Amino acid sequence: MSELSRILADRHIIVCVGPGGVGKTTTAAALAVRAADEGRRVIVCTIDPARRLAQSLGLDGLDNTPKRLDVKGAHGRAPRGELWGMMLDMKSTFDDMILDMTSRDRAEKIFANPFYHHISSTLAGTQEYMAMEKLWELHEEGRWELIVLDTPPTRSALDFLEAPRKVTDFLEGKFLRLLLWPYLQAGKTYLKAVNFGAQMFLKAATRITGSELLADVANFFLAFEGMYDTFKERAKRVYDLLAARRSAFVVVASPQEASLREARYFVQRLGSEKMPLGGVIMNRTHDVPAVGGLEDPRSLADRARAAGDGALLAPALEVYASWREVSVREDAQVSAAFGDLADVPLWRVPDLADDVHDLAALRRVGESLLGPLPKATPKTAAGG
Ligand SMILES: Nc1ncnc2c1ncn2[C@@H]1O[C@H](COP(=O)(O)OP(=O)(O)O)[C@@H](O)[C@H]1O
Ligand SMILES: [Mg+2]
Repeated sequence: MSELSRILADRHIIVCVGPGGVGKTTTAAALAVRAADEGRRVIVCTIDPARRLAQSLGLDGLDNTPKRLDVKGAHGRAPRGELWGMMLDMKSTFDDMILDMTSRDRAEKIFANPFYHHISSTLAGTQEYMAMEKLWELHEEGRWELIVLDTPPTRSALDFLEAPRKVTDFLEGKFLRLLLWPYLQAGKTYLKAVNFGAQMFLKAATRITGSELLADVANFFLAFEGMYDTFKERAKRVYDLLAARRSAFVVVASPQEASLREARYFVQRLGSEKMPLGGVIMNRTHDVPAVGGLEDPRSLADRARAAGDGALLAPALEVYASWREVSVREDAQVSAAFGDLADVPLWRVPDLADDVHDLAALRRVGESLLGPLPKATPKTAAGG
């Protein structure tokens, strides 16, 4: 049994992280399909999946809630387990979190604040944070043996781990609160009794900025007062869940220098945060094997051409030469990045001819990671 098979069979949470565009969503879906085919009850929480992938999985138009996916199993049979899926909706996850944290009244106040709309949809880190909140929710529901979490298309893989702290820091807003102090004071006293001076100040400021933005911002922070500890506690419990032995991070990378550098950094960072690393998936590789006698295909092509075989043999040798060069270069880059991290498992997925947009292609990705689906895997845990 390979290391990845074990992870897929035993873990409760798998988080796919990595730089943007490398195949996190694809990998998350492929692992989930494979786990369901092997008999587990699994949910994949996707984030911004490509439209065609979402459609072919029947994920289109979902509103932040898990849905059982009606997938034909491998070889036309029903999967041995269950495949569930959802698309993360950042805004409603944020709303649900606020509702869970405070009274209905106060939540309504927050929802009505225009600045909240801005924060809940555009603040850097919010999406990552909400992915973690959702993960906690799914875990709490207790219905799934395995939860596969896709992560947002951030520029840096590191954003994922840092997101809750960033958002919490922001909401705590030490710096902003200092700037806004007069407004906060105005807001507070307004609640008690009308403070004429503060009112005047607020009015003047509002006139100056030409909008109510500052007042909204001040009210926003007022509404969050006293909730910071709750934020921190929630972030902490998700951290603990991620750090638990039944979780695994899978770092997805493509065999290009920048992506590899980032993946390496993330692997090390997971180590220093004591987060459980499953391994690295090298996606979209081009593995073209060396062929005995064809060590120098370019000069063979020249000779073929000189011998008058320029129509078929020479171009074929040149095509082989190009792909072989790509393969050698990728290998060199991968070992430059991971050669000294010998204990980090590395799995490869070839660059498929087409985008990975349907179940069959997802299963092909699964097979390149885990080999053909075993004929009869023992059913894990209680099914049904
Ligand atoms: N191994 C692969 N072969 C071919 N296309 C792939 C492969 N992996 C991913 N893709 C395609 O690359 C694009 C980006 O993949 P995606 O999983 O959405 O990346 P991410 O979630 O990291 O941004 C998608 O169109 C997907 O179908
Ligand atoms: Mg994605």
